[in-house]
Amino acid sequence: MPIDPILNRRSIRKFRDENVEPGLIEQVLEAARLAPSWKNLQTWELLVITDAGKRSEVAGTMEGNPARNAITQAPVLIIVCADPTRSGVMNGKEYYMTDIGIVMDHIMLEASSLGLGTVFVGLFDEEKIRGIFGIPGQYRIVAMTPLGYPEKIPEPRPRKGIEEIVHRNNW
Ligand SMILES: Cc1cc2nc3c(=O)[nH]c(=O)nc-3n(C[C@H](O)[C@H](O)[C@H](O)COP(=O)(O)O)c2cc1C
Repeated sequence: MPIDPILNRRSIRKFRDENVEPGLIEQVLEAARLAPSWKNLQTWELLVITDAGKRSEVAGTMEGNPARNAITQAPVLIIVCADPTRSGVMNGKEYYMTDIGIVMDHIMLEASSLGLGTVFVGLFDEEKIRGIFGIPGQYRIVAMTPLGYPEKIPEPRPRKGIEEIVHRNNW
């Protein structure tokens, strides 16, 4: 039976002490690469961290974040950056954030289909992360996720019902 990546994806914050095969990491990165974007400008650049010392440094800046321990437990950390000049702005809506949201979803769903866990991490001190890796000032650091084998799969978090979120034919 194929895994349904949407139904099976959860935010994973506890990981097994087990490496991810390099080929699987590449498959996840390939899913990111194929994401759609504003005018196909592909604003993103990704930083893949397997170095345990660097992951500890990142976790050290993330006190209070429920995903903090996951960043040291999982063998891989993917940080997703955007160059906002390589995307669009319309009526104050900055589409580089949308572009990165889609990349993250591609990463999370591909990982889910491979039996790997992720968690979208958006709450962090951008300047501290920039300093750890020397990320140039023109890039915004939008999101990150640990990547590894889940220790266990949590129950699904609740969602609103369709009738609460969908308007049909009129608002
Ligand atoms: C934009 C965004 C930012 C998030 N930031 C964090 C975060 O900093 N730390 C964390 O533990 N989870 C974070 N999450 C994960 C959400 O808490 C999680 O997706 C939500 O509770 C639903 O649970 P589920 O992903 O298991 O369905 C973030 C999710 C999104 C989409």
